[in-house]
Amino acid sequence: MARVIAVVNQKGGVGKTTTSVNLAAGLAKLKKRVLMIDLDPQGNATVALGFERGDLAYSAYDLLVGGVSCHQVRLRAEQAGLDVIPAQGDLTAAEIELLNQDQGALALKQAIASCVDEYDVVLIDCPPSLNMLTLSGLAAADGLLVPVQCEYFALEGLSALMNTVSKVQADLNPSLAIDGLLRTMHDRRNNLANDVSNQLVAHFGLKVLQTIIPRNIRLAEAPSYGESILDYDANSTGAMAYLALANELARKLKF
Ligand SMILES: Nc1ncnc2c1ncn2[C@@H]1O[C@H](COP(=O)(O)OP(=O)(O)O)[C@@H](O)[C@H]1O
Ligand SMILES: [Mg+2]
Repeated sequence: MARVIAVVNQKGGVGKTTTSVNLAAGLAKLKKRVLMIDLDPQGNATVALGFERGDLAYSAYDLLVGGVSCHQVRLRAEQAGLDVIPAQGDLTAAEIELLNQDQGALALKQAIASCVDEYDVVLIDCPPSLNMLTLSGLAAADGLLVPVQCEYFALEGLSALMNTVSKVQADLNPSLAIDGLLRTMHDRRNNLANDVSNQLVAHFGLKVLQTIIPRNIRLAEAPSYGESILDYDANSTGAMAYLALANELARKLKF
């Protein structure tokens, strides 16, 4: 049985896509069978794994509302060694179509049911809002991974997210778990980052993952080469952090 993990935070720019891509690649390096689903119409994760937006035969749109099977939509990212459900701009239209369906929030869960058992882990890169696409990600997931950039308003945003999670647990997905909060873009020399990091641990305890992702310019560069950090610069601090994260999650969640 695959562990389905939604990478969510309604705040933009906190490292969701960077985490989805590089954690997926790290898990593939550990010989896990990985599917990464790009659920953001911006398609940044798709591009970061070497695919061309706008040039796709099928995308997450076709999976969610077009009746095309995940076997037909998925692509192989050869270098990273994983499968991808790619996204492009048309996914914005799926958001609206799902809103008009009775069971729209369950569309992703139903659409991946036929292929999910072929994987050890499925990662879902969610868009930066609590919209219908994100909701469908939360409904399909076993657990959440929440990237948090340790800065002043980080904790405020988290309480809104936790409220949404409670609603999803009540209405759609009672067993939805919080698999971890991940500190991203961390700079140890920054006092505010350290303070917020400590508050996060005080508030969420063991939900905060031990692995901390440092700020590392190589992580920002890799997407423009269509490569994960493990292919772009395996010796960088970013690569080592994402491999450590892959190990920590595989151990913690036993997949
Ligand atoms: N650890 C990091 N070090 C340096 N830059 C990073 C790091 N994580 C993300 N970035 C950069 O920060 C920006 C936002 O990250 P991204 O993963 O796209 O966030 P989100 O998906 O949450 O909007 C991107 O330009 C990305 O390359
Ligand atoms: Mg993103």
